[in-house]
Amino acid sequence: MLTAYDYPTAMAMDKAGVDSILVGDSLAMVVLGYENTLPVTMDEMLHHARAVARGAKSALLVGDMPFMSYQVSVEDAVRNAGRFLQNGGMDAVKLEGGRERADAVRAIVGAGIPVMGHLGLTPQSVHQLGGFRAQGKTAIAAKRLLEDAKILEDAGAFSLVLEAVPARLAEYISKQISIPTIGIGAGAGCDGQVLVTHDMLGLFERFTPKFVKQYANFHAEMSKAFTDYIDDVESRRFPAVEHTVEMTDEEWEEFIK
Ligand code: KIV
Repeated sequence: MLTAYDYPTAMAMDKAGVDSILVGDSLAMVVLGYENTLPVTMDEMLHHARAVARGAKSALLVGDMPFMSYQVSVEDAVRNAGRFLQNGGMDAVKLEGGRERADAVRAIVGAGIPVMGHLGLTPQSVHQLGGFRAQGKTAIAAKRLLEDAKILEDAGAFSLVLEAVPARLAEYISKQISIPTIGIGAGAGCDGQVLVTHDMLGLFERFTPKFVKQYANFHAEMSKAFTDYIDDVESRRFPAVEHTVEMTDEEWEEFIK
């Protein structure tokens, strides 16, 4: 699984055979430039979800429910989850949290909408967690995480993201539940993996979590392309003849006479 927020990226992922695409609320940080994921709205998420849905025809598409779209009431949660399928072209939704979200998960699943859970480092709770920190590092916290995973499974979640938790805990949880776990910063013992695409492509310069493997440095590539373009334009190497529309000599003579 990888995240995507636009049409060409979704197309490239589909072509490469990525199983599932998450339109993550990481959109807020890596595309919209916010400090954290809290400001992004349902309407903004849907706008990007539709672009991804137009680009990807094979991958399972998961819309990430933004902050305050499911926390206020179960009714809100069902309605907003429905919007991802009805207006966003998504196949499923993801939401953050454990036992406190069980009712919302049950109700959304009851409405026929597949739900992916998200435990461990849940970025929408960044202020409660005291920052973007690894979770489940004490025995008590690990027990709570395992309980939450079982509660989400019982509530009907079809899969679970485990973010920034110790690898051996993630592997243990993955074996204790029957739904697939998708890890991010949770080691190789999960059933699948997800990364924020802007991190793995080196597009997001501001901060790269330790658990990211960078497969490219698109930020450097982009900067080079932009400076090369400026050089070419200033030195009049661009546009060259092959980039230019021509006019016949006869028409030109007619024009200037
Ligand atoms: O928003 C997001 O991109 C996510 C992934 C980190 C799982 O939730």
